[in-house]
Amino acid sequence: MSPVSPVRPRAEPAQLLDLAVHAAVQAGQMLSKGRSPGRPEVVCTKSSPTDVVTEMDRASERLIIDRIRAERAGDAFLGEEGGYLQPANQTLVRWVIDPIDGTVNYLYGLPDWAVSIAAEQSGTVLAGVVHVPERGELFTAVRGGGAWLRRDTQRGRDAEAVRLRCAAEVPIDQALVATGFGYQAASRAMQGEVVAALLPAVRDIRRGGSCAVDLCSVAAGRVDAYYERGINYWDRAAGGLIAAEAGALLGGLPGQPPGPELTIAAGPGLFEELQRLLATLSRRPGA
Ligand code: IPD
Repeated sequence: MSPVSPVRPRAEPAQLLDLAVHAAVQAGQMLSKGRSPGRPEVVCTKSSPTDVVTEMDRASERLIIDRIRAERAGDAFLGEEGGYLQPANQTLVRWVIDPIDGTVNYLYGLPDWAVSIAAEQSGTVLAGVVHVPERGELFTAVRGGGAWLRRDTQRGRDAEAVRLRCAAEVPIDQALVATGFGYQAASRAMQGEVVAALLPAVRDIRRGGSCAVDLCSVAAGRVDAYYERGINYWDRAAGGLIAAEAGALLGGLPGQPPGPELTIAAGPGLFEELQRLLATLSRRPGA
């Protein structure tokens, strides 16, 4: 007879968020202070020669995992840089970590990079934080509790949290749409074709360089929508919850959840129109 796995109580989302915030702020401080005046050393590349890993990506992921394990030794981890402990038991809390989302911005000294940490259980993201240290911004959400932004976290001040609401019912021709591009030349060529076809239909396009920040920008109404093909789960796990808790709809191709094929986040009204348009554009020959 196979052993019956014990039923674990649902983890407390507010406590998970608290721990995620502490780890993210600590990692953010280390990344900001530890950034050398020149470009950080690239230690290896992944999917293409421009998909880089710096020593700081690795140090950040180590710090986050060590910080969380010190309090929750039995949890599982999925980290962009391979930091993992992945027991088969789905009912464990799993931490989904992007230690620097926007690594190329970090490499070049541009401010839009983030530490992104989500806590999920049984496949559902319960809590998420996206910390943007160079802007002193901390975006947070727990499932069912709304999305929030606190500023000046780096300077140690307990700034008041502001509740976020995404823009709703924006007509597509008025929409400011953020997107991103993968690291492989062939997929970039396709993404370029799609964006060229979309550009005349919308207000304008933005390419910020961090999926996590883009999703928080949707949450905060700084852009009206975000879409991208080819993003990984760690890029969107925390930002996706924050956007959803701010009222955004999230999805992929029509009828599909967000995934590597396509991730779209936008307020009601715009979401449906953008999803239809992107589905048509990605069916075109060559796209
Ligand atoms: C990247 C960023 C970027 C997106 C890429 C991602 P990374 O993540 O989120 O905005 O366009 O698709 O891979 O590599 O900086 O963690």
